[in-house]
Amino acid sequence: MKHTIWIVLCLLAPGCVSKKEEQKAQLKNEKKWWKEAIVYQIYPRSFKDSNGDGVGDLRGIIEKLDYVKSLGVTAVWLNPIYSSPNADNGYDVSDYRNIMAEFGSMEDFDELLRKMHERDLKLIIDIVVNHSSDEHEWFKQSRSSRNNPYRNYYHWWPAEKGKPNYRYSLFDETGDAWKYDERTNAYYLHYFAAKQPDLNWENPKLRQEVYAFMRFWADKGVDGFRLDAFQFAAKDTTFPAFPLGFEKDFVKYYAMQGNLHEYLKEMNREVFSKYDVMSVAEGAGNTMEDAHNLVDADRNELNMAYAFEGVDIAKSTGYDLVHFKKVFSKWDSAFAEKGWVSIFLANHDQARMVSRFASDAPEFRAASAKLLNTFILSMRGTPYCYYGDELGMTNPGFEKIEDYRDIQALNMYKKTQNSGGDVNAYLKELKFSSRDNGRTPMQWDSGQNAGFTSATPWLAVNSNYNLINAAAQDDDAASVLNHFRRLTELRNKKDVLVYGKYTLLLKDHPQVYAYTRVLDDKKVLVLLNFSGSDSSVSLDEFDSVSDVLINNYTELELDGRTVRLKPYQAAMLTFE
Ligand code: NOJ
Repeated sequence: MKHTIWIVLCLLAPGCVSKKEEQKAQLKNEKKWWKEAIVYQIYPRSFKDSNGDGVGDLRGIIEKLDYVKSLGVTAVWLNPIYSSPNADNGYDVSDYRNIMAEFGSMEDFDELLRKMHERDLKLIIDIVVNHSSDEHEWFKQSRSSRNNPYRNYYHWWPAEKGKPNYRYSLFDETGDAWKYDERTNAYYLHYFAAKQPDLNWENPKLRQEVYAFMRFWADKGVDGFRLDAFQFAAKDTTFPAFPLGFEKDFVKYYAMQGNLHEYLKEMNREVFSKYDVMSVAEGAGNTMEDAHNLVDADRNELNMAYAFEGVDIAKSTGYDLVHFKKVFSKWDSAFAEKGWVSIFLANHDQARMVSRFASDAPEFRAASAKLLNTFILSMRGTPYCYYGDELGMTNPGFEKIEDYRDIQALNMYKKTQNSGGDVNAYLKELKFSSRDNGRTPMQWDSGQNAGFTSATPWLAVNSNYNLINAAAQDDDAASVLNHFRRLTELRNKKDVLVYGKYTLLLKDHPQVYAYTRVLDDKKVLVLLNFSGSDSSVSLDEFDSVSDVLINNYTELELDGRTVRLKPYQAAMLTFE
């Protein structure tokens, strides 16, 4: 009876049947292009300088599109390319509808997008709307008077109310996220640098402005959006006091506040739902539930989670592989039926993955880089490959503060100095973890400045560019680069690597990360020796291991049912 009533109601309600079908498909974790994509992240400033000013630019990327295509990646994420005074390398936008002068013009952008699409490459752009630049017209207006129509585009606290409750700033040299502005005798909020005032998402007008410029880019044909720091965008504008020392765990207090989900649903209605675009926000909240609420298809917010728990594991003191396996397996199982995740070990906010997660020592570097790329390209979740990691680029080993350009490094150095901290210890930490480690210019060849620029590069080229560069590796079948190409070829061909079920094996093995990916009758076994010594694993539970799909050594030593893996050996096998 209930069933009949439902059918009758459904026939009366247009769209009901298709809604139901849609929900069913969503629950089954349906196929999508962005799940099958291999994303290549380009930090435009560091990729290729075409006009000899020491800074990478859009025409430089255009020059290198055939190289990008040759990698077998299918989408490119570009860090911000909009007009910016570059306090934070473009993460401080002064005009969301224009191109940064150093990077070129809108014509260059249109040409880049056209040429990417001609090559079947999708383009994901970075949307920075937790904050703008203080040089954005909105902020100039906003700070000019308390009655200005743009006043509420930002968070202001009138000084006559006293000092607002403390908020921690990630980049400010004093650590204080409130900056006093004498023009209107008020404080404005900046979670990042003082030149990056936080936008007021509680203001519907501001939200509509953002959706409008997002549609401007979607109308041009971009294929996706990455939302910078968006989990911090919503705020309790009464700015209550947080417990003393909250900054040690600031994400807990800053992320997923207030109406964030409502804003994402609105953005989805106003922008994402109108185009075939993918969406990913930086960060995935504080809990698995937060992450699901951000990306499950029936939530109508974002497409995939970009969680930091995995990438945050490596410390200068090392890390525990058993923990690493546990974290990645936990995320996989939480998203096995519903939702989708991103897989990455590096980006522009991290040091080089080979220096953090494996070994950049000369004897191990190439094998290590191949191993990490094998990991990223064989996990379930959309892989994000950071420029230069396809070559095994390493940390540059900067020694002095003058070597750095990153606002975070420079301001935290000042903060350490001003508070009488140990600057040498801080420099040592920077050498391992600074963001500039991952931003050194792309190493194209062994010519001047690694072929990146004919001028002085904005950030020094890693001195190992004679040894590690794209031209040399292109000619070498055994190179990290050509291994990367074989990996992407495998992933692009094999649905099992995209959609196949992931099962962790040998969870307590301290050196080897082993797992299977299974889809119907297709079965892949992945073996990764994350250590600098030989390691053995037993294949007893597999009836037969047949083809070696890929291997970063010329041989794979099988002794009966035991595989002996060489240092940093990585292989994918099929099995019955
Ligand atoms: C996160 C970005 O990835 C980082 O590079 C930037 O500095 C901050 N957000 C502020 O926009």
